[in-house]
Amino acid sequence: MTQPIYAAITGWGSCMPPAVLSNEDLSTFLDTSDEWIVTRTGMKERRISHVTATELATLAAKRALACADLDPADLDLIIYGGVSNEELCPNSASGVQISLGAANAASMDLNTACTSFCYGLAAATGMIRTGQVRNAVVIGTELISRYMDWDNRNVAVLFGDGSAAVVLEATENQEGMLASMLGCDAGARDTLRVRGFGCGYSGYGITLGDTFWDFDGQQIFKRAVMGMSRASKEVLAHSGLTADDISLVVPHQANLRIIESVAKYAQIPMDRVMLTVEKYGNMSAATVPVALVDALEEGRVEPNSWLLMPAFGGGLTYCSLLVKWGNRVTPLGHTNDQLPPCSESALTLVNQIRKNQDPHGRSKAGLLAPVFPEERLNRAYPVD
Ligand code: ACO
Repeated sequence: MTQPIYAAITGWGSCMPPAVLSNEDLSTFLDTSDEWIVTRTGMKERRISHVTATELATLAAKRALACADLDPADLDLIIYGGVSNEELCPNSASGVQISLGAANAASMDLNTACTSFCYGLAAATGMIRTGQVRNAVVIGTELISRYMDWDNRNVAVLFGDGSAAVVLEATENQEGMLASMLGCDAGARDTLRVRGFGCGYSGYGITLGDTFWDFDGQQIFKRAVMGMSRASKEVLAHSGLTADDISLVVPHQANLRIIESVAKYAQIPMDRVMLTVEKYGNMSAATVPVALVDALEEGRVEPNSWLLMPAFGGGLTYCSLLVKWGNRVTPLGHTNDQLPPCSESALTLVNQIRKNQDPHGRSKAGLLAPVFPEERLNRAYPVD
């Protein structure tokens, strides 16, 4: 009889854009205050990216691969989790694949909003455990600043940009994600909708930054607490574990008060909860992996310990993952690659987006110009 296969997390890396947008910056163009934002959400700062989502994701994946000492050419699968993809076709995972030089990988995007990384980790674990692939990179990346409704204080203060990735590899050791509970409170899908973002809005002359968020914060708050708490309870019961077995909770970080409620319901003290909400805000799909990488870098993940990862997102999707960490909590290697320097302040970048200017300085004509000259396309794919 063959040994069961597990999917160990062997590499991890994040890529945080350097420009910091403070609560004071937000109050220069919104009717809000540091006091309101800190009291209601626990957030003080968030990051605004000066580079594309693919650049963030590629560097996070490179760092994770170096950490695992895995050659990109040996990679079987890339899952790109997120909701702020630059394009729908070609997908974002293929953009990361070409930048990594991972010529032998399959590449797919996965969008369950803020839970995209966690759903991706569950999907990749399943594919490794059933032998379809031997390894995978799972990425959570968001560039929410580009489609934020910056004039809406209900949402503009809550989000930030960021990226992180993990490497999974097949192992006979019983570690990695050992249990998960995934769900979707679809009856509440209307509580969070980004209007203007998606092909359903095509033909209405909508341009970059022209989005309007339908956002029922109080409903989302209640349902997030319910969904994450139920999923965490089920995943622990299914595994025969209790709250005392969990060494660290690495939750989605949409609001400090949501996290405190979930921890209280699970009877896990806050000193066993990883918090990044104060410095990064809510980075949607990037939130959980960035918090995981920070936890590892701060020495908060102990060898052979149990981690719980509850999350929720638009849809309203929710989940909780139970992860058994392996022996190693330090990287095998590093890459020297860095993001290009950022010459603008976060507030300048945001003001460019608010004026519908492209922060990369590209013109609309340039963005819409074909990659291949028309005659080359006709030659390669003759119409008649
Ligand atoms: N600054 C100042 N005042 C504000 C701001 C702001 N940025 N935003 C809202 N207000 C005002 C409102 O207009 C309202 O004023 P009113 O009483 O005169 O009408 C008042 O503050 C209170 O608003 P509430 O919505 O009652 O505030 P609440 O305590 O519920 O906090 C919040 C709002 C932070 C959005 C909270 O409901 C929340 O965290 N919800 C869930 C988090 C969430 O939805 N995150 C994103 C989901 S996406 C994801 O992560 C998957």
